[in-house]
Amino acid sequence: MESSKIRPMLAGRPDAPLRGEAAVPGDKSISHRALMFGALAVGETRITGLLEGEDVLRTAAAMRALGAETWRDCADWMVAGRGIGGLTAPGDILDMGNSGTAARLLCGILASHDIFSVMTGDASLRKRPMRRVIEPLKACGAVFCARPGDRLPLSIQGARDALPLTYRLPVASAQVKSAVLLAGLNARGITEVEEPEPTRDHSENMLRHFGAAITVGMQGKGRVIRLTGQPELRGADVAVPGDPSSAAFPIVAGLLVPESRLVVTGVGLNPLRTGLFETLREMGAELTIRNQRTEGGESIGDVVVEHTELVAVDVPPGRAPSMIDEYPILAVACALARGTSRLRGLAELRVKESDRLAATAALLRAGGVRVEIEDDDLIIHGGAPAGGGLVETHMDHRLAMSAAVFGQVTAAPMKIDDVSFIDTSFPGFVALMRRLGASITPA
Ligand code: S3P
Repeated sequence: MESSKIRPMLAGRPDAPLRGEAAVPGDKSISHRALMFGALAVGETRITGLLEGEDVLRTAAAMRALGAETWRDCADWMVAGRGIGGLTAPGDILDMGNSGTAARLLCGILASHDIFSVMTGDASLRKRPMRRVIEPLKACGAVFCARPGDRLPLSIQGARDALPLTYRLPVASAQVKSAVLLAGLNARGITEVEEPEPTRDHSENMLRHFGAAITVGMQGKGRVIRLTGQPELRGADVAVPGDPSSAAFPIVAGLLVPESRLVVTGVGLNPLRTGLFETLREMGAELTIRNQRTEGGESIGDVVVEHTELVAVDVPPGRAPSMIDEYPILAVACALARGTSRLRGLAELRVKESDRLAATAALLRAGGVRVEIEDDDLIIHGGAPAGGGLVETHMDHRLAMSAAVFGQVTAAPMKIDDVSFIDTSFPGFVALMRRLGASITPA
């Protein structure tokens, strides 16, 4: 990605309401996991609807570098796994590009394989904290050596006989939870993770689906997950739902552009991912779900959205894990809502693909919105934004997509410095939005 060409864009008010039906690409979290569990399973895994975004393609390349095979069978992706403990040392550095999920989950796998590897990423990923996975994973016997501040590049000598882990998450992070569980797969005994607040449970669901013995118990507001190590994972079929974090962009655009009506089909509705929909409804949004069904163990449905005048909202910190990637686009919705919104407890946004708390505030300010950051809260004074400014996206796909939606409703168009990173999670975003009627043009 780093060498790819910078693509500036202009996002302006469309001539007509947004209309139509669209399906968004596959869920990023589930796509990474399907490739990883497929590589750790015995036999073949067939993945339908894999997200072919840069981030996930990095995971596929890493699995191949570790000895698994991947190939395409028409639209499906196939993985021939090596079995737990069966991965082999990569001949070169593993480059995880822009993807924190790929890097952190892979650390878990590598920690309990007796192989040496070196991992790096792009300029954004090399700034992101890896201590959150290094710290718990060291306890299984792996040796990590990282740049100061526990940043990438890092080297890992995985444990020969990994010990099972018992870990209480200090931050609500599905990435850290998943890294510990992945390490636990090749440790003898029970690996236990306690999460004080529930985070997305795709790893747990998929482990069960591939045949692992895993239990999830409730504990207060949180959960305790117990995984029996060294199961034989069996290759399985995985149907990847549309990514609710990607669906968020056309959905919010449909809500904000007057007289719009859109249908986004096949969207994943795992309850640990739907905090944005709950929040938008609190703001008065007209959102309905049609054809709700279960596919591959995950709930999915078609989301119908109609333009609504929104009112401000106060979002509690406890909702953050269920909508962690949606704050930039929620902030755009708040900028158009009547009244002052407060989004609370956003410390984790500071360590995403960019410092998303600061960058989201800057995005709105570039459009003339009054915004404050108080401790870890974002305060947004809604109204009718003037627009006209330049948004700096800092190699962050979600900022670029949020800016593109924002420009549809600001009085003057918004300039976006670079939309190339959108390909990490939502290839075809600009074309899809244009097909629905949005105005996004090369600058
Ligand atoms: C993800 C978890 C979240 C999210 C990321 C994907 C995952 O990160 O922001 O885009 O697939 O587990 P954290 O677990 O660090 O909050």
